[in-house]
Amino acid sequence: VSTCHVYIATSLDGYIARSDGGLDWLEGWPEVGHDYGYRAFVDGVDGIVMGRGTFEAVRDFNPWPYARPVVVASRTLTMADVPLALHRQVEVHAGQPRVILAAVAQRGWQRVYLDGGRLMQAFLREGLVEDLIITRLPILLGAGRALFGEVLQDVRLLHVETTAYASGFVQSRYRVPAGRRS
Ligand SMILES: NC(=O)c1ccc[n+]([C@@H]2O[C@H](COP(=O)([O-])OP(=O)(O)OC[C@H]3O[C@@H](n4cnc5c(N)ncnc54)[C@H](OP(=O)(O)O)[C@@H]3O)[C@@H](O)[C@H]2O)c1
Repeated sequence: VSTCHVYIATSLDGYIARSDGGLDWLEGWPEVGHDYGYRAFVDGVDGIVMGRGTFEAVRDFNPWPYARPVVVASRTLTMADVPLALHRQVEVHAGQPRVILAAVAQRGWQRVYLDGGRLMQAFLREGLVEDLIITRLPILLGAGRALFGEVLQDVRLLHVETTAYASGFVQSRYRVPAGRRS
């Protein structure tokens, strides 16, 4: 069985991207001499499952930033939408969250880095998210793509730890109690 782990940056008002997908607001902050635990987090996962929206934002990155295999969850993309140079690292999967997780578990993935807002919300609704590391940047965007959306019922999370950095970034880790669906 694979477990899903979220590592994501948000604005203080809860957005992960501008409405047009822009991520410029993530840049231009004081250098702190570390990466907020990102590398260690990635080293601890076997692969990444990302939403189509996230894939479209990173597809043309050169060099390709992920050192782990990537599964793109999409009912509309095919491998024809994946640059040829990425065919060894990236695969498109059209299944529901549980089907995707079963597929990657078969490959031996134990820990999955789950990336993207709407995709994460779908996994959360299914009770498939184990924990979330959320780094809040001290900026208000006013509008954009939200990390969280509507929930069918309250979702109580367990706060594990919070670190406040000199840059003003505040990073919190939350656990989703076992079996919780939103
Ligand atoms: N701030 C950060 O740390 C951070 C991190 C990651 C991403 N981002 C940004 O966030 C944006 C993408 O996030 P997003 O929330 O817009 O999109 P997303 O979650 O990355 O992708 C959503 C897409 O995933 C596909 N999908 C497959 N199965 C799904 C399911 N069960 N439920 C929902 N969607 C499913 C759908 O595409 P189909 O219609 O093709 O099926 C859906 O449109 C990008 O702009 C990216 O740059 C920011």
